[in-house]
Amino acid sequence: MCGIVGYTGALEAAPILLDGLKKLEYRGYDSAGIAVLGKDGIEVSKVSGRIENLVEKTEGGRLLPGNAGIGHTRWATHGAPTDVNAHPHVSNDGRFAVVHNGIIENYIDLRDELIKNGYASISETDTEVIVHLIEMYYAGDIKRAVIKASSRLSGSYALGVVCTDAPHSVFVARERSPLILGVGLGENYFASDVTALVSHTRNAIYLDDDEFAELTPDSITVFNCAGQPVEKSVSRIAWDIQAAEKGGYEHFMLKEIVEQPRAVKAAIAPRIKDGEVVLEGAEMSKEYLSGISKIVITACGSAYYAGCAGRFAIEKLCRVPVKTDLASELRYDDPLIDEKTLLIVLSQSGETADTIAALREGQKRGAKTLAIVNVVGSTIAKAADYTLYTYAGPEIAVATTKGYTTQLAVLYLFALYAAKKMGRIDKERYDSLLSSLQAMPRRIQEAVDMNPNIPALAKKYHKSRSVFFMGRNTDYSVALEGALKMKEISYLHAEAYAAGELKHGTIALIEDKQPVVALCCNDRITEKTMSNIVEVKARGAEVLALTYRENKKMVALADDTMFIPLVETLLSAIVEIVPLQLLAYYVAKENGCDIDKPKNLAKSVTVE
Ligand code: AGP
Repeated sequence: MCGIVGYTGALEAAPILLDGLKKLEYRGYDSAGIAVLGKDGIEVSKVSGRIENLVEKTEGGRLLPGNAGIGHTRWATHGAPTDVNAHPHVSNDGRFAVVHNGIIENYIDLRDELIKNGYASISETDTEVIVHLIEMYYAGDIKRAVIKASSRLSGSYALGVVCTDAPHSVFVARERSPLILGVGLGENYFASDVTALVSHTRNAIYLDDDEFAELTPDSITVFNCAGQPVEKSVSRIAWDIQAAEKGGYEHFMLKEIVEQPRAVKAAIAPRIKDGEVVLEGAEMSKEYLSGISKIVITACGSAYYAGCAGRFAIEKLCRVPVKTDLASELRYDDPLIDEKTLLIVLSQSGETADTIAALREGQKRGAKTLAIVNVVGSTIAKAADYTLYTYAGPEIAVATTKGYTTQLAVLYLFALYAAKKMGRIDKERYDSLLSSLQAMPRRIQEAVDMNPNIPALAKKYHKSRSVFFMGRNTDYSVALEGALKMKEISYLHAEAYAAGELKHGTIALIEDKQPVVALCCNDRITEKTMSNIVEVKARGAEVLALTYRENKKMVALADDTMFIPLVETLLSAIVEIVPLQLLAYYVAKENGCDIDKPKNLAKSVTVE
């Protein structure tokens, strides 16, 4: 997704903007640019491709002197990734420059209106209409012009604006796209997320929708669409800088895989007190929980697959129907959601457009919403009725790993919490599952340590045309995420299917040497999955099994094996996924892929 940054203070702005854009690279982009208020007006430099190109073109920012400016990384939505389409966009009179994260849904009508008024666009972007609107409405009051222009926009935007008539100010506006202000001493910042701020300041102001601000070196003034001042609190950014750095690993993804024991512990530990699950921020009464008729879990991508895996524990323990629904489907589905539905919304970034829309759809229909989210202060975190943070720390790699496992950890906690409140679990089972859950950080570490053969397996399979992942029940839900990991970072085609479905079609694709990853960690149905393995092997498949070391029959049957430690089946997904994350990582490495920033992908899909 696009990212925006801004600075005003005593230092040269350009190097700070370039550094901020580098911190936002993980969001995914295909062009970048900066604009600085110089002594002769607005100086702009923008390029398609990587930020390194921009650094080179501006000689590290030296060619754009000035102490206030804005920057942008663009993930193309309207118009190809070219220099012309890159942001910042400048008004015809050269007085304004704008950067934007989001989508302007009515830009075609606005562009036609602007052309009639003599404001022609030179790019293919939706964003350019914004800077022309500001110019058109400008009559000496910049704040008013920004407010008036914003009032004409429908869609989502986080805006950064500079104007030659205010050489030390930067202006911002927020509507349904994240925008955070960094409070410094004699300098102030803005950015799309905290990773671009933490190296300068830990003091942050989170703007809400329909809020604006003017930043000068010594002041931040937040105001609403009527131009009236708005009181905002300053929050402390808890993330440490090292956590947002690679820490000696070759890729953020590998770092984030191996730090899952710590991340899962951070998600679980603060929520267990005296042998009880305590969900501060999401306390629900026995009456409310006993009155719900169903639970719907909605999300996108890996978050959705975490929901598919967590569903089993909630349904089994609470004895309430639990449905998982892709957010991009739910929002157009006329869903059967009402005040007796609890809608659980999963999101690492808290800014996924479809997930936000599904949350709002559920609230419109009377459901209470529980957000399980990683980014503090994100749109989903603030919009939900109840919010549980996953405390995974910054996840920089586009492909989520600790985001997924910490979401699962919180889902398991919720399952135990709700089952206890509803009186549907006996003490012995509750205590046993709670003890298993508390041990999960160690089990995850074991799963990392007990598969030193994965790099060799990657060498063996990395040239495959496609990889099938199969499993039943909880294993199938993990197969879905395992296939997505393989696809999105190694670019191998991968497909997950329920093992019982094999004979209903997929087996037609099994041919000699076809790799099949067979997940067999659900002790209730091991025999069934093993019969599927015999069927694919009979047709020449090479089976890579994921199972317990104790499952001797499976080990003997498979061509290759990866292991997890013995764990409670209901909670096994949080451990099972780890070898599959590592397999995808090493296959991608063998294929020389850009693992942390896979092609075409963004860390947070803030557009539909
Ligand atoms: C995960 O590896 C993908 N990058 C993607 O599917 C992601 O899970 C999805 O876009 C949802 O993102 P969110 O958790 O930030 O809402």
